[in-house]
Amino acid sequence: MTDPRLTSLQTAVPGLRLSTEPGDLEHYGRDWTRRWTPAPLAIAFPADVAQVQAVMRWASAQGVAVVPSGGRTGLSGGAVAARGELVLSLERMNKVLGFDPVDGQLTVQAGTPLQAVQEAAQAQGLLYPVDFGSRGSCSIGGNIATNAGGIRVIRFGNTREWVAGLKLVTGTGELLDLGRGLVKNSSGYDLRHLAIGAEGTLGVVVEATLRLTRPLPPAQTLLLALPSFEALMQVFAHFRTRVDLQAFEFLTDVGLRHVRAHGASYPFDAVHPYYVLTEYDAADEAQQAAGLAAFEHCLAQGWVVDGVQAASEAQAKQLWRLREGLTESLAPYRPYKNDISVRIAVLPAFLAQAQALLAEAYPQFEVVWFGHIGDGNLHINVLQPAGVADADFVAQCGQVTGLLADLLQAHGGSISAEHGIGLAKKDYLGSTRSPAEVALMRGIRAVMDPAGILNPGKLFD
Ligand code: MLT
Ligand code: ZN
Repeated sequence: MTDPRLTSLQTAVPGLRLSTEPGDLEHYGRDWTRRWTPAPLAIAFPADVAQVQAVMRWASAQGVAVVPSGGRTGLSGGAVAARGELVLSLERMNKVLGFDPVDGQLTVQAGTPLQAVQEAAQAQGLLYPVDFGSRGSCSIGGNIATNAGGIRVIRFGNTREWVAGLKLVTGTGELLDLGRGLVKNSSGYDLRHLAIGAEGTLGVVVEATLRLTRPLPPAQTLLLALPSFEALMQVFAHFRTRVDLQAFEFLTDVGLRHVRAHGASYPFDAVHPYYVLTEYDAADEAQQAAGLAAFEHCLAQGWVVDGVQAASEAQAKQLWRLREGLTESLAPYRPYKNDISVRIAVLPAFLAQAQALLAEAYPQFEVVWFGHIGDGNLHINVLQPAGVADADFVAQCGQVTGLLADLLQAHGGSISAEHGIGLAKKDYLGSTRSPAEVALMRGIRAVMDPAGILNPGKLFD
């Protein structure tokens, strides 16, 4: 029998596409964490902004919780619907609405996949520079809701830097047109920036106007093998002052083993404890020579023990596979993911203490480190061993995350660099945000969503 709430929704929003198919409930009720059992009330697929507003007005009046939903590639449970919520999927609202060549801005609907945004920019001879491995599956609305980072933050910053305008539907169904593509606008609080990174708790992103930039110059892609993390920091400090970095990513022998087992080809003879995959501008001979000189200096210092330069685009792609294939190669182990950041200069001290802590706390678990060194962002993946029950594993990992959170607090870091807080990290928010900050966040949420229906349980209770 149809749930009477759905009959009421259908009456309130005529023509709204709704699904209660078991396959849809499962698919749209979960994200890439796969940790929570999906149990949504139904999935709504609005066709336009007016339908999103009507759904939110209805949900607010009826007190039905709503989970805004993009590509659900999130890794913190921010888009999970496990408590009978209505999932509001933006996937039908996936059109590029227009490009203004004078402003250099692209306007898209929230459900547009990141890759489609990048391709639309490219078609204009320009670049939307935020980029990461899930580009084909994630949506721009989800990127905005999590202030997504990725592999080019070192050069271009996070999603926040590129959002010139944002249309947001609040918990009461109000449509806010924030920023409106203005370059200058000194007229009070910038609510656009409140919504960016709010994980769908302050409103539903329905449309975005994005800044574009000039395409990147040709790059040199380089994979370096290093003896220690200290050496890695020396290499970073040296490279960043000599070349214009486009990326500076790190991985370890442990991660490499997984990604190789998944089919990635490996260019060195020996195995090394640390690796850096870097890209820098190499448009002319001077830039190429600067990169080579930086490499040779690091080699002479013993900070680098081996290196390989991509000689073609195909080879560069192969090298990138070693880094971008990590998430997929670890997925079968259902990793418990920590996504932390500290100031770059603090990384070595933090890493040494965190590694000691994890070795003591997890002697039985395999831990895979990788991340965006140039952003002070480390991904710490704890792999679930076969035979260890889910609840047991998560409880053990949670305990250690508590210790990690204490360590982060002592180093002035963040419990989530780019994946968001969602369900996974809300117990540890206090390690990164003061009680006064959290109280203000609660107050803001209550103003924009007085009925408390927007993604409840995410970020904080
Ligand atoms: C990455 O850096 O590859 C992403 O944040 C995804 C992940 O951490 O697995
Ligand atoms: Zn990352």
